[in-house]
Amino acid sequence: MEVISPKMGNYNLANYEETRKFFHWDEVKKVFSWSKTGNINIAYEAIDRHVEEGRGDKQALLYSDAHREETYTFSELKTLTNKAAHMFSKLGVTKGDRVFIFMPRSPELYVALLGAIKVGAVVGPLFEAFMKDAVKSRLEDSAAKMIVTTPDLITRVPVEELPHLETVILVGENIPDGHGYRSYYDEMNIASDRDEIIQWVDLEDGYVLHYTSGSTGKPKGVYHVHHAMIQQYQTANWVLDLKEDDIYWCTADPGWVTGTSYGIFGPWLSGVTNVVRGGRFSPDDWYQTLEKNKVTVWYSAPTAFRMLMGADPAILKKYDLSSVRHILSVGEPLNPEVVRWGYEVYQHRIHDTWWMTETGAMLICNYLAEPIKPGSMGKPLPGIEAAIINDHGEELPPYRMGHLAIKPGWPAMMRKIWNNDQKYNEYFAISGWYVSGDTAYKDEDGYFWFQGRNDDVIMTSGERVGPFEIESKLVEHPAVAEAGVIGKPDEIRGQIIKAFISLREGYEYSEELAKDIQAFIKTELSAHAVPREIECRDKLPKTRSGKIMRRVLKAWELNEPAGDLSTMED
Ligand code: PRX
Repeated sequence: MEVISPKMGNYNLANYEETRKFFHWDEVKKVFSWSKTGNINIAYEAIDRHVEEGRGDKQALLYSDAHREETYTFSELKTLTNKAAHMFSKLGVTKGDRVFIFMPRSPELYVALLGAIKVGAVVGPLFEAFMKDAVKSRLEDSAAKMIVTTPDLITRVPVEELPHLETVILVGENIPDGHGYRSYYDEMNIASDRDEIIQWVDLEDGYVLHYTSGSTGKPKGVYHVHHAMIQQYQTANWVLDLKEDDIYWCTADPGWVTGTSYGIFGPWLSGVTNVVRGGRFSPDDWYQTLEKNKVTVWYSAPTAFRMLMGADPAILKKYDLSSVRHILSVGEPLNPEVVRWGYEVYQHRIHDTWWMTETGAMLICNYLAEPIKPGSMGKPLPGIEAAIINDHGEELPPYRMGHLAIKPGWPAMMRKIWNNDQKYNEYFAISGWYVSGDTAYKDEDGYFWFQGRNDDVIMTSGERVGPFEIESKLVEHPAVAEAGVIGKPDEIRGQIIKAFISLREGYEYSEELAKDIQAFIKTELSAHAVPREIECRDKLPKTRSGKIMRRVLKAWELNEPAGDLSTMED
């Protein structure tokens, strides 16, 4: 068995087995002021606490994009997030209200998000690429009261169709009239920065709502509570290995859970300098970001590593990456060849971590002091009970494939699916385990090996895409009668989205029509939901009840046997 041993000198979680035996989450709670006061607010703990404890002048945020380069200390972020909190409060936000943040990465995004949490709001971060329908369905489902966005994105927020939406805060110049539009900068200018605005809440009160896709139905609102900080902090220590002087860069956008749990809270709860780079991926840009900021700990995703692996090796040679001491990955299977390549070119192991939007924080990981088996996700965090179970909830012995399941009760676990108790309960249908939807096995050393999703969820470029939302949109195109969407294996992106369609009477398939359909999805839903491949068929395989059989489409695509077809219509 191939194993990459840790280098000498890194001792974090050196005694994995011992820690596993004796660790309890209650120990971690003592770190926070909560244990002294009975009060909590994750935003206070992430920012203000460091000011109270004398670290106010420390750099908290190193922000850059193609046009801006700014740094903020913890004191400055404390003042700004207090002001944002006063702004939200003045405009009517109270504890538990849903406030959405829909904008490209920028310092304002982070300030607004933390400010809203300071007044006890539940924040819904939305990726900037979302189009009108995607935005609308999320705001509608959660009955959002307020949204922070930019003048560029405002046409994608259908204010008149959202009766609960009272106020739109616009970050930018030239604020149009009407629709409850408010200028972020004007409001911030006049807002107080005093501390008393902070809402002290219960550990079990909500702070974030991340919409994510399943294989059926609309995206689900995964609801997380302040309690999550206990685990975010502890994993930042054990897994990210964050220490006082680290400069940390998580490449994820806060529209995805990685971008909040580990792009905001993991590092800031630990008081570490956090790098945020706006704009899109390019190998030059990324290596430059590492070099310029002297990043020490870097958390990214397999797709990015594969793209860097595919880039011209001369690019890497231009940059000095000697500051980097620890690299991690999340989101999809990390190919062994990527781990080997990373070890060769960066001279560091890439540490895979496994978790989900629903889990709120890391659960199965590779640790600095432990050997890595390339291709394995690693071992459960101390305090976490993970198992491979069968359909009856029985634990399976090593090397048997089954459901990857977790014993509920970890601090960062989602507390509900917004407006959908049934969906929430479905996760726990097998003997009370949290069933992830992933198939995996465990080896004799307790390492977990990912085998696949056992539903139709597509993982493309590290993003989770539900086929149902795309299919529903495809059939709204005038030419499309039926649609079935699958993930097709792809070397760089993990999977790409492939759509099988049949056409309505009077339409004929052409390249042009395919392009038109792609443009339709891009403008109506979002760029990352666009099927890169479209294949037209006279008829799609369906069950007798009329459900498109994605399993059969997959078999077509991969030239594999389609399995049991007894439920298929003739
Ligand atoms: O299938 C697993 C895959 O991503 C799914 C969760 O997606 P999402 O909620 O978008 O969260 C991604 C980042 C937290 C999982 O059910 N996944 C995540 N990490 C890994 C992974 N698959 C293999 N290896 C991983 N390390």
